[in-house]
Amino acid sequence: MSINFINNWKELEIKCKNCTRCELSKTRTNVVFGYGNVNSKILFVGEGPGFHEDIQGKPFVGRSGKLLDSLLEEINLTREKIYIANIVKCRPPENRDPLPEEQELCINWLRNQFYIIKPKIVVALGRIAALKIISPNLKITKDHGIFLLKKQTWFMPTLHPAAVLRNISKKPDVQSDFQKLKSKIIELDIII
Ligand code: URA
Repeated sequence: MSINFINNWKELEIKCKNCTRCELSKTRTNVVFGYGNVNSKILFVGEGPGFHEDIQGKPFVGRSGKLLDSLLEEINLTREKIYIANIVKCRPPENRDPLPEEQELCINWLRNQFYIIKPKIVVALGRIAALKIISPNLKITKDHGIFLLKKQTWFMPTLHPAAVLRNISKKPDVQSDFQKLKSKIIELDIII
């Protein structure tokens, strides 16, 4: 597949924020392009904006964002040291899962972000992101915390913070995945 990627981050952001490729553009308040450090070699990918993200135009600003911040802090990271994006940039109504066609119409924005950032590590937050960017055969309950190398980038699925909030007994699993992330950062000598 040949895609004409944009090289300039600001230009990409402006184009994305004017996107009307799918129906989600009709109900959004803001496009949630992403947040963080474009020079980071660590990219986190969630599924799509929720209520608060749609209002504020930033990813993971609600309750699951608070949990994400504390998980990051446990391994000496902050959201300013990584980049956080989503599979779909506009909120699906009633926080439903983004439809396969919405994901497909939106994914090239993420691919272009990936192309500019050139991350060494990508963390997929939750099942939807993991299925889309790692493997459609993945089982999040079994495969979380396992790194997979694809074309010089390491991909790791982990549980979505919202899923952990719904079932707090899963917190040690996600904490252990973040420890594996920390080890991988050290192993790859990534400068934070
Ligand atoms: N959940 C996501 O997957 N992404 C966000 O930005 C917020 C909540």
